[in-house]
Amino acid sequence: ADKKIGILVGSLRRGSFSKKIAHFFIENAPEGNSMELIEIGHLEHYNQDFDEDGSPASYGPFREKIKSLDGVIFITPEYNRSVPGVLKNALDVASRPYGQSCWDGKPALVVSSSISNVSGFGANHHLRQSLVFLNMPTLQQPEVYIANVQNLFDEEGKLTKDDSATFLKDVLTAYATFLEKH
Ligand code: FNR
Repeated sequence: ADKKIGILVGSLRRGSFSKKIAHFFIENAPEGNSMELIEIGHLEHYNQDFDEDGSPASYGPFREKIKSLDGVIFITPEYNRSVPGVLKNALDVASRPYGQSCWDGKPALVVSSSISNVSGFGANHHLRQSLVFLNMPTLQQPEVYIANVQNLFDEEGKLTKDDSATFLKDVLTAYATFLEKH
């Protein structure tokens, strides 16, 4: 059966390189996988009082969307050696109310990118730490650290670096196989 995969991007920036990777993934989704970008920038800061008082209108549809997915791909930059707050907030929002986490059991893929040589290792592993607690089996290999991400794309945002394109397609194939097993 077709697998429905959601992509969450940890950057709201108009020209985000992480978003460009997301679009490359959508265009190169392996057969039998449909991929869509899931917006997170509109989600209010999570406040535990919402679980008693009622949640902002943005939460319901987001939680339903996450629940409907077979798998989740996270593509994130690194902010101050960790995950950008907007992505952490999205994780928190769909993890609550207590006992009703929408993430539970969903196989994940983590991609970090950076404009430096260091490739977002800190963000990648802080994110993996949360996914352990959220009970999301996460593809271990290949790990995906994209360094100097600004050099991958042309003016139109197309991924033009061949070795990176090949690598990222191999990653998608590995993730599709991983999804089949879960
Ligand atoms: C950064 N950047 C960054 N890069 C990195 O490799 N390690 C880091 O810790 C940080 N920290 C950081 C903090 C903040 C607040 C900003 C705005 C940026 C640089 C980052 O790699 C660069 O801005 C990317 O282009 C962000 O990803 P998008 O928006 O292109 O997807």
